[in-house]
Amino acid sequence: MSRTPSTTTDAVVVGGGIIGLVTAWRAAQRGLSVAVVDPEPGGGAAQVAAGMLAAVTELHYGEQTLLGLNVESARRYPEFAAELSEASGRDLGYRACGTLAVALDADDRAHLRELHALQRKSGLESEWLSGRECRRLEPMLAPGVRGGLRVDGDHQIDPRRLAGALVTACERSGVVFHRTWAERLSVVRGRARGIVLADGGELAADQVVLAGGSRSGQLAGVPDEVLPPVRPVKGQVLRLTVPKRYAPFLSRTVRAVVRGSHVYLVPRVNGELVVGATTEELGWDTEVTAGGVYELLRDAHELVPGITELPLTETRAGLRPGSPDNAPLLGPTALPGLLLATGHYRNGVLLTPVTGDAMAQVLATGELPEEARPFTPRRFSGASLEQPA
Ligand code: GLY
Repeated sequence: MSRTPSTTTDAVVVGGGIIGLVTAWRAAQRGLSVAVVDPEPGGGAAQVAAGMLAAVTELHYGEQTLLGLNVESARRYPEFAAELSEASGRDLGYRACGTLAVALDADDRAHLRELHALQRKSGLESEWLSGRECRRLEPMLAPGVRGGLRVDGDHQIDPRRLAGALVTACERSGVVFHRTWAERLSVVRGRARGIVLADGGELAADQVVLAGGSRSGQLAGVPDEVLPPVRPVKGQVLRLTVPKRYAPFLSRTVRAVVRGSHVYLVPRVNGELVVGATTEELGWDTEVTAGGVYELLRDAHELVPGITELPLTETRAGLRPGSPDNAPLLGPTALPGLLLATGHYRNGVLLTPVTGDAMAQVLATGELPEEARPFTPRRFSGASLEQPA
């Protein structure tokens, strides 16, 4: 039986991954009363993600609009990380280490040359290096590396630390956590009014933010017209450990496209080396497979042969929230009172600062900031549910 809600919260955020948490934290900082619904706040895709802040090296043709948001979020990262670290009392593992994208054969090199041209056309900083120059920077690289792009502005953060810090920052800002599932959106007279919880409770809210990552399209009660078109895209990721005697194994993120698949090696200060990631359209499957591990190790070994000496400490799979144009859905939907912060696909960690700022602004003022407007969920729906005033 449902309990009747006694008070109305300014905003309820469904989903306590990094996107939901940053939304809640930033909204609470603006003086809003905020609740987060999630059985395990700080969990989700951030527990698997490598944490590359790769606005430049993950640039793809046709994604120039997304590039603008990615670059803006990367620009905000140092200040964001410092503020969150201060607010939570935690180190986030933010590392301004840069990235080296390398080519292993003539095809890869041609592909990387094109990426370089696109980067320059887009006003981004990257420098072409010969194979020898790449190996001078990173001596563990394979002798066969044919060239590469040095991108000093693509950094990294530890997403697990980021998630933990956001939970603490939220708690310290007065965000209330409901550690249970959201069962259903309450809609009353054409407006989102709150959330019915799986434990039978009910939260009344002026605004509801759906930030459930790949599950965002699953909440009952959301009208079809505004249901976010997100889907799970599986990524398998490995964690290895660099023993002290091998350090520094790599001094920056190293990545490549090998036989059409992305592989990257992200070295943390604490000796962890993250190797990712597969990209698989397999629905809700989060099984780690021998094939996935084999492909990652095979490709990573081609780049950096010495990795076979390292202890393999963890294998895990997560689900990216994919959207039809690979870009996030941010802001109000056509259902009054319901907002989205989801669909960040490959860029959730990178887009955390700009998402938090944009969502807090729209929750507090009703207006999305300029940089977030192209990402309105309304770009996917012609239908309007808005009631006449
Ligand atoms: N951004 C890296 C990935 O999604 O695998």
